[in-house]
Amino acid sequence: MATQIEKHRTTIPDHVPSDRVRDIDIYALDGLEEGFHEAWKRVQTADNPSLVWTPLTGGHWVATRGTVIDEVYRHPEHFSSRVIWVPREAGEAYEMVPTKMDPPEHTPYRKAIDRGLNPAQIRRIESDVRSVAIELIEGFADKGGCDFARDFAGIFPVKVFLALADLPFDDVPMLNQLAKEMTRPSGSTPEEQGRALEAANKGFFDYLAPIVEQRRGGTGTDLITMMVNTEINGAPMPPDKLLGLVSLLLLAGLDTVVNLLSFMMIYLARHPETVEEMRSDPKKLLRGVEELFRRFAVVSDARYVVQDMEFHGVQLKAGDLILLPTALHGLDDSQHEDPMKVDLSRPNVAAHSTFAQGPHRCAGLHLARMEVLVTLQEWLARIPTFALAEGAAPIYHSGIVAAVENVPLVWKV
Ligand code: HEM
Repeated sequence: MATQIEKHRTTIPDHVPSDRVRDIDIYALDGLEEGFHEAWKRVQTADNPSLVWTPLTGGHWVATRGTVIDEVYRHPEHFSSRVIWVPREAGEAYEMVPTKMDPPEHTPYRKAIDRGLNPAQIRRIESDVRSVAIELIEGFADKGGCDFARDFAGIFPVKVFLALADLPFDDVPMLNQLAKEMTRPSGSTPEEQGRALEAANKGFFDYLAPIVEQRRGGTGTDLITMMVNTEINGAPMPPDKLLGLVSLLLLAGLDTVVNLLSFMMIYLARHPETVEEMRSDPKKLLRGVEELFRRFAVVSDARYVVQDMEFHGVQLKAGDLILLPTALHGLDDSQHEDPMKVDLSRPNVAAHSTFAQGPHRCAGLHLARMEVLVTLQEWLARIPTFALAEGAAPIYHSGIVAAVENVPLVWKV
């Protein structure tokens, strides 16, 4: 019989009503073996109110409805970004920029990032991105199968980002390990997870410090040189902020699209009718990308309550953390009919928080959108009807960014 590891529990504070308490462990969701989105969906039952509190992962609130997730993201004056990771110890060790800042401090940093990742910049690199996708797919198309997570999703967005930032591909295994410890830190107590995150954060800074130094004053057109030479409020960006900002870009480029693509492909392998619909009408595919974003959200991060307040029937205390599982916005039945289904003609498809809302809404979404679209266009042009390999059992991980390890696919050649 498997031994059950006793989970670290925090005492329930006086202001949390006992009928709001549920065991929810962001790093080990119940039912995860059935799928990451399926596991979060279990939390969104009729008998769970829109805000519940878990004594796990240091103790925090969890928003379970789309409207509440949306509302919290849009109100930084009540829900600050000063701690956005759970447990709190990990959130306090997290030093990336500008995700931890609130407006107005956040605004000039965000403008700097938008200069590097705006739609015009992304359009400029589209044909290079397409070449990377084609080369990878043609590498296995005639083999009749691949592990999509290992052979495509784990390489394509990473290669694209590293080219954008002019960093060597050889560093990827080390960077992937750091990214994993940032978004799914190891340890069974908040203190251990805090220390794991602190070490990973330092790993990013140590890796990038000499690179940033080298590019200071340079004329390169890569993303890092652009950021290094950007001014904030008329002065050079402070060195620690610069490291935090470049580290965030790298982290976001390594761990998000990678996993979204794999979740998407598992679904498509199980639903050939959706794939056929995409093949039959390129316009449906274009529109369908938004639906894929709605269905396959991967981020669950938090906000910090600025002052005591009443919110959706509970009393919040200053310093409380609210976890926002973005999957639960797009998958909310009150916003979408049959939400677990990918419906390429879905009305109101943009009702999701996959990229968050408000001032921190993802700065990389144009890049992410282009990467997903290019993947599908080039995949469908080269791979016939495909399915999951017999007996395939994808291994899922939940955390700040969800992950899936293996997606074995087969097709006829
Ligand atoms: C499917 C892919 C992606 C998803 C689901 C995603 C999701 C998110 C979410 C939910 C946030 C808000 C975090 C918060 O405020 O607490 C965010 C912020 C951010 N993302 Fe993404 N992201 C993706 C891809 C990317 C890519 C490829 C990049 C760029 C390399 C990127 C860069 C950023 C940056 C810089 C921020 C911080 C924005 C700010 O604080 O103002 N993201 N992303």
